Amino acid sequence: MNSPRSTNAQRTSHLLGIEGLERSFVEAIFSLAKEHKRAVANGKSRAPLTGRVVANLFFEDSTRTRTSFEIAAKMMGAEVLNWTATGSSVSKGETLLDTARNVDAIGPAAMVVRHGSSGAAQLISRYVRCSVINAGDGAHEHPSQALLDAFTLLERLGSLDGKRVVIAGDILHSRVARSNIHCLRLLGAEVLVSGPPTLIPVGIEALGCRVAREFPAAVELADAVMMLRVQVERQTELAFPSAQEYAAHWGLTAALASRMKPGAVVLHPGPINRGVELSSEVADGARSTILDQVSNGVAIRMAILETFAW
Ligand code: CP
Repeated sequence: MNSPRSTNAQRTSHLLGIEGLERSFVEAIFSLAKEHKRAVANGKSRAPLTGRVVANLFFEDSTRTRTSFEIAAKMMGAEVLNWTATGSSVSKGETLLDTARNVDAIGPAAMVVRHGSSGAAQLISRYVRCSVINAGDGAHEHPSQALLDAFTLLERLGSLDGKRVVIAGDILHSRVARSNIHCLRLLGAEVLVSGPPTLIPVGIEALGCRVAREFPAAVELADAVMMLRVQVERQTELAFPSAQEYAAHWGLTAALASRMKPGAVVLHPGPINRGVELSSEVADGARSTILDQVSNGVAIRMAILETFAW
């Protein structure tokens, strides 16, 4: 099998987004992730990163992404340098690039970067020697999330060719939505986005998705529904009157989920605002893939690190 890196010559050093990747690259990452998942389950994980350092650079908070990159790196024998903006010299005025270049000087093979500004990971990639993996940049992309989401969907649905996936909620501020639109379309799915008109970006159809104005009707016809949190931290003014109103119009309740097709599944990247975009019955119910997504995140990030942490 070709390594994922060798199948995508134009993206040999960094994983900055899903846009522009080839289907063969994504499928090779999935093959590697499957292999890692099986090996970990059998207690036979490989350690291809022994002697290397993976640096986590998180300028924004994270629970799932940071911890799963850390575990993925350690399971493959790497040392992990965990850097977060809190408690760092950012408080003394150190810039993004100075921070990244100083961490790069410590000698990591790869740097996993999360930042609140779109393009931050790409900017860093131009100034460091190590590989850069985008762990979420503003409202732009979150490639490892989209890969683990698609990997989870493939496990549940078998194939994505011709499947209909509805991504619902705050599309405007969502890097998860953008990466997923690219990834799901690459794998043959039809993608619809739905949410309050104030949270649907003008021209989103240019990414190859359709806008579903009637959320309940879209849910009934979907093979998968991906619910997104409203990102209040990225809004200057609230895009809807109240959380109650949002839940009534755009929330996935048990009553609405009961109208989904047999076998259709519900995803959420986390963190969930229970009772707003998703009811607890649905989040913890049989259709939910939420914890599988988190578990698969480790295998996917092992595959990503093995590919990029040279
Ligand atoms: N899905 C996701 O990115 O979660 P964290 O913010 O906890 O990493």
